[in-house]
Amino acid sequence: MPHDDQDPALDVPPEAWSGVHRGPLRAGEWVRLLDAKGRKHNLPLEPGKRFFSNRGHVEHDEMIGREEGFTVTASTGGEYLVFRPLLSEFVVSMPRGAAVVYPKDAAQIVAMADIFPGADVVEAGVGSGALTCSLLRAVGPHGRVTSYERREEFADVARQNVTQFFGTVEGEGHPAWTLRLGDLATELPASGERCDRVILDMLAPWECLDAAADALRPGGIVCAYVATTTQLSRFTETVRVHGGFTEPQAWESLVRDWHVEGLAVRPGHKMIGHTAFLVTARRMAPGQQAPRKTRRPAAGAYGPDYTGPRPLDVPDLPADVFVDQPEQQHEQ
Ligand SMILES: C[S@@+](CC[C@H](N)C(=O)[O-])C[C@H]1O[C@@H](n2cnc3c(N)ncnc32)[C@H](O)[C@@H]1O
Repeated sequence: MPHDDQDPALDVPPEAWSGVHRGPLRAGEWVRLLDAKGRKHNLPLEPGKRFFSNRGHVEHDEMIGREEGFTVTASTGGEYLVFRPLLSEFVVSMPRGAAVVYPKDAAQIVAMADIFPGADVVEAGVGSGALTCSLLRAVGPHGRVTSYERREEFADVARQNVTQFFGTVEGEGHPAWTLRLGDLATELPASGERCDRVILDMLAPWECLDAAADALRPGGIVCAYVATTTQLSRFTETVRVHGGFTEPQAWESLVRDWHVEGLAVRPGHKMIGHTAFLVTARRMAPGQQAPRKTRRPAAGAYGPDYTGPRPLDVPDLPADVFVDQPEQQHEQ
């Protein structure tokens, strides 16, 4: 008896909606070809077709029917490594309408916003559908991801990408996914939907906070993904001012590759310096407020130059109250 993992006939059950296949490569499946210089080519396998590059061509029929993880040699001698693309590879190479959430951040969102199998998740905007794929993977077929998108052309791109990644069963896409065209700030309240998590990836997430708060169940999490410090500040202060959330947590993740070769073990020279910041907060039960911070705000935090939302426990004091004072001279 072959071990299950070695049985090429055994695919991942379609009802798992993983977007992953095992066993021999089939016609219609996507593969990723990697050359010696690290160039990547993603293509769907079609019987009788050829893949052309500056290294000659490769017959698709040479790849169909083989177990992934092999090399093929192009007609002029160049070699390609052949694998099925991972989700993290798919999202950075798929067609884009809007900028995508990068895999390192999608991983943070899934872990820190605690996206669990069976969860009801609301997200906006769907953009190109990159984060949607990670959310659907995490909630599984028994969860629910409702994605709102204001722009029809982006919704179309997302629909194509999500369908390409997860495939269809009897013409139907992922059973946990609903894509709604419209603004989350107005459409979510109109739907009456309740949820466990709200993930906001958009220019002005603070405009959606009331809608998110009303939809979130007690203990639920709101999570915003924002590119700039001004957005980070405005969203965080809006959460504080709302009053129905715990103290927001803000952070970013930096990932650095390492070069590991014999005695040459050092950080890689290149690094993605910045993608975005993340902010999360938990929804309190109705009528409940989180304990106020006992510490005074940092000097100048809400001084005269601050024009954003002002937390309730920070009085609108005369302008000079929080301004840094020159250090007092000790009397001689
Ligand atoms: C950066 S993209 C989202 C990318 C997406 N998370 C991904 O990983 O592919 C931001 C999207 O939010 C949409 N958007 C902005 N505000 C919105 C709102 N209030 N409701 C719904 N969609 C919104 C924009 O049209 C845009 O497509």
